[in-house]
Amino acid sequence: MSATIIDGKAFAGTVREKVAGHVSRLKEEHGITPGLAVVLVGEDPASQVYVRSKGKMTVEVGMKSVEHKLDVETPEAELLALIDQLNNDPEIHGILVQLPLPKHLNEDLVINSIDPAKDVDGFHISNVGLLGTGQKSMVPCTPLGCLMMLRDHHGSLSGMDAVVIGRSNIVGKPMAQLLLGDSCTVTIAHSRTKDLADVVRRADIVVAAVGRPEMVPGDWIKEGATVIDVGINRIERDGKNKLVGDVDFDSCAARAGAITPVPGGVGPMTIACLLANTVTACCRANG
Ligand code: GUN
Repeated sequence: MSATIIDGKAFAGTVREKVAGHVSRLKEEHGITPGLAVVLVGEDPASQVYVRSKGKMTVEVGMKSVEHKLDVETPEAELLALIDQLNNDPEIHGILVQLPLPKHLNEDLVINSIDPAKDVDGFHISNVGLLGTGQKSMVPCTPLGCLMMLRDHHGSLSGMDAVVIGRSNIVGKPMAQLLLGDSCTVTIAHSRTKDLADVVRRADIVVAAVGRPEMVPGDWIKEGATVIDVGINRIERDGKNKLVGDVDFDSCAARAGAITPVPGGVGPMTIACLLANTVTACCRANG
């Protein structure tokens, strides 16, 4: 079988167009411009790239973008004071604190100081609880993007066997909750899972989110399964710098029914969903 390539880049373009349409209606009909604030502490190169890209796309869909770049040694109290200021700013509807934070900062404390209604990452403990109990919440962007691609490809996911590889709070756990919400039978696999190959071979849907380059080989994939690759890993190959996912693309594509590429799969959907979450937060804030 030769897999259908799920084009996340093109899909993200249509999501951003819809977001831009909502933004122009909010402006014209209600005089409101959705605003997204991104906070970056320190100078991690990958984080700097993400933050720049988020800012650019926020402006492209017509929203207000505010960036706060803080020194790597910023005291926790100063960061919390900035978040408090953004929580109380009526022109800011979404707040994102780029992770990881420098070691001296308590990530849980910082994330939970964001107003849950402005938590466009969906990482606040209130949003995590709401998602886990199937209530209306802010949904983390990467898993939301994966779910949108799966729904678009399959229609209903009801009754499908899904295996999520990786148990992070950012992707693995919320991804599992979303798949459960769509009536999949869900397994979360991780570094201690026994017989991982056999677990993955049962799956109709495989979501790989472990951050280990090309760790899933094609012979773990059931014929016709759908493979969603969340990994973005930079490797050296043949003297060249290359981006690869968590699955070995060529061998997995030879067995899968559909697969997301890296780059051009999940990555662009994450930012598109961030923009969509900001519009959602703005609409909820304004009734
Ligand atoms: N770092 C890597 N992914 C993310 C994300 O989705 N949100 C935030 N805030 N930081 C990240």
